[in-house]
Amino acid sequence: MRVGMGALAFSLVACLLVCISRLPPVAAQGPWAVRIACGATADTHGANGFLWSKDRDYSGGSAASVALNNHKAPQLNTLRYFSVSDGGENCYNITVPVGHYLIRLYFTYGQEDNAGHEPQFDVSIEGTLVYSLLPGWSSDDNNYRDSLAFVNDGAATICFHSSGHGNPAVASIEVLQIFNQAYNRGFNASEEFIMRTVKRVSAGAEKSGFGSDFLADPWGGDRYWESDISLFLPGSAVKPVSANVTINNTAVYPNIYPQAIFQTATSANPGQSLSYTLPVESNLQYSIWFYFAELATFVEPGDRIFDILVNDQPVFPNVDVIARAGGVFSALILNTTMLVPGKTLTVTFNPRNGNIAVNAFEVYALVPTEAQTVNTNLWALQQLKQSLNIPVRMGWNGDPCVPQLHPWYGVDCKRDTATGLWMIDGLDLSSQGLRGFLGEQIGSLTGLLNLNLSHNLLQGQIPSSVGHLESLLTMDLSYNQVSGSIPASLGNLTKLQKLFLNNNLLSGEVPHNLIAGSLQGANLDISDNKDLCGVGIRPCSQHDHGTKAGVVVGVLLGSLLAVLVGYIFYKRRQNTARAQRLPRDAPYAKARTTFVRDVQMARTVLTGHFKPVYRDPTPASGQANPLL
Ligand SMILES: *[C@@H]1O[C@H](CO)[C@@H](O)[C@H](O)[C@H]1NC(C)=O
Ligand SMILES: *[C@@H]1O[C@H](CO)[C@@H](O)[C@H](O)[C@H]1NC(C)=O
Ligand SMILES: *[C@@H]1O[C@H](CO)[C@@H](O)[C@H](O)[C@H]1NC(C)=O
Ligand SMILES: *[C@@H]1O[C@H](CO)[C@@H](O)[C@H](O)[C@H]1NC(C)=O
Ligand SMILES: *[C@@H]1O[C@H](CO)[C@@H](O)[C@H](O)[C@H]1NC(C)=O
Ligand SMILES: *[C@@H]1O[C@H](CO)[C@@H](O)[C@H](O)[C@H]1NC(C)=O
Ligand SMILES: *[C@@H]1O[C@H](CO)[C@@H](O)[C@H](O)[C@H]1NC(C)=O
Repeated sequence: MRVGMGALAFSLVACLLVCISRLPPVAAQGPWAVRIACGATADTHGANGFLWSKDRDYSGGSAASVALNNHKAPQLNTLRYFSVSDGGENCYNITVPVGHYLIRLYFTYGQEDNAGHEPQFDVSIEGTLVYSLLPGWSSDDNNYRDSLAFVNDGAATICFHSSGHGNPAVASIEVLQIFNQAYNRGFNASEEFIMRTVKRVSAGAEKSGFGSDFLADPWGGDRYWESDISLFLPGSAVKPVSANVTINNTAVYPNIYPQAIFQTATSANPGQSLSYTLPVESNLQYSIWFYFAELATFVEPGDRIFDILVNDQPVFPNVDVIARAGGVFSALILNTTMLVPGKTLTVTFNPRNGNIAVNAFEVYALVPTEAQTVNTNLWALQQLKQSLNIPVRMGWNGDPCVPQLHPWYGVDCKRDTATGLWMIDGLDLSSQGLRGFLGEQIGSLTGLLNLNLSHNLLQGQIPSSVGHLESLLTMDLSYNQVSGSIPASLGNLTKLQKLFLNNNLLSGEVPHNLIAGSLQGANLDISDNKDLCGVGIRPCSQHDHGTKAGVVVGVLLGSLLAVLVGYIFYKRRQNTARAQRLPRDAPYAKARTTFVRDVQMARTVLTGHFKPVYRDPTPASGQANPLL
């Protein structure tokens, strides 16, 4: 027996070892890459053999065909667009491992989606507003965007936010992994910013192209390098130079560049400066990267020396490429970060000796990442989206609070000072025709101050978890079809100033704390319900207490008792027996009338303290209003 157990344990361990060793080693895999052809119904292989997966992971919208063709995104037969009925916030939520990614998007539009008119809209990545597509974005090559971002939560969330000018549309999305340390960023830099590419130039290159066009290592993220050659005017003082030789130190960790960007350069005449001016968003930090390699074999250290200036500020004086790179055909990489207060960024190369030769450069805007919504609140709202039956047109997708410019419809947020994250402090979905119920998860919105779900068609009960909403100031569930009893936990909310539960189907005992609260000046309206009782309204009888089951049992016991008592009294004094049975046997409408009278009585009794609120007497739900 012992031996048998030992053998079993051994084989288990052996299997475990074998099984583990069969798992693919993570390091052996290439960088993670997802390429989505938006709107496409089938997977295809595009240029350079890449797999373009059919449309997936989107929150809604419609597919449309487009007739454009552009080398930057080969899968341009289709797009996905989001119309008004899809709501203001729409997202792709693409499952990827936690990591650092180059995320690139190709935008276009057509007849089917936008009647041929260029739409305007905003785009966020991981909750941070990164792009605003303003008028003219679709001219020339401007419809391509990429950024470097960290994904911390296992899914890259890219959202398209309507600004009311046409339907947001996207043709392709690529999420391509790069090294966590790429561009000098530790993983925790994710808490600081997203790097939005402003310009990536391969100077003097014959053609623009992706890293993959230049056979670059895929860990480079397949960046797109734009040639500056079309900027040269005939007879200008600059000219392209190139050398078809291997350049040393280009594909070095962590940035990994293609050889090609070092094999060409733009050179100026001796004594001439060279500058590039880019329009940029003001008041952001910019990270600027310069790439050089000496391509002329006859150049010696000291022969070619220049200064690099950004917006006229010297950032690298006396650059001697060959001296610093250690020889010809060897890469020199420099980077700097600078705040740009104005709307242009000018990079200038001023010669000190010899003529200028620039191989490549990149400019990134450092977009500060927006704080996200506290996880518990995000989760709770995602659940409430289901239970309340939030319609598609409200576009409850992505993060409820960010980007700050585009919170979810009906949701108010405030910054939690302790964590720096966003919390929900208001939810106003009144008069939206909601047909669901208020889920238990409402209790997780612990920062909630105001809740207004009035004038809907909500059913079900008030969850007792509302007792966790300790900060709650107002709660308005009036004009719905909420049933069951008012949870006792509501009586614990000491800050509650307004509680409107009128015009529902509530029954049972009103927590006495609520009535006590209303005596202290809080507004309470519980009128026009099914059958409420309590201090100052109508004394509760046995069956008013307890839950549904209790009510059922109570009713059963009560009926039994009534029958028994009735029988006995019938036998003894027929008149009394009839009088006692009457309330129980009375039809529903009659019971309601009795209740209304009780409420009116209560109001009379409590004049001066109790402050019932009278509002629109026409019930939205079509219930008869017994007060009329
Ligand atoms: C990131 O920050 C966390 C704490 O916030 C720390 O535990 C972790 O070591 C940091 N990671 C790196 C790569 O710096
Ligand atoms: C560069 O040289 C390689 C072989 O040395 C050749 O195959 C390639 O076509 C050359 N490229 C250009 C652009 O001349
Ligand atoms: C390339 O760089 C390495 C070290 O960085 C150096 O040892 C080697 O000599 C260089 N090769 C050339 C051709 O410059
Ligand atoms: C970028 O510049 C910083 C200092 O400004 C330097 O520490 C860092 O090594 C540079 N990164 C690369 C990859 O050259
Ligand atoms: C995105 O997907 C992840 C994992 O697939 C999921 O945990 C998360 O809730 C999703 N986010 C949104 C906003 O749908
Ligand atoms: C709730 O919303 C309705 C309709 O917008 C409004 O009339 C009512 O005053 C709101 N309730 C509270 C407590 O603010
Ligand atoms: C009200 O609060 C008290 C004290 O925190 C707690 O013991 C009690 O269970 C709460 N009542 C309800 C109904 O939640």
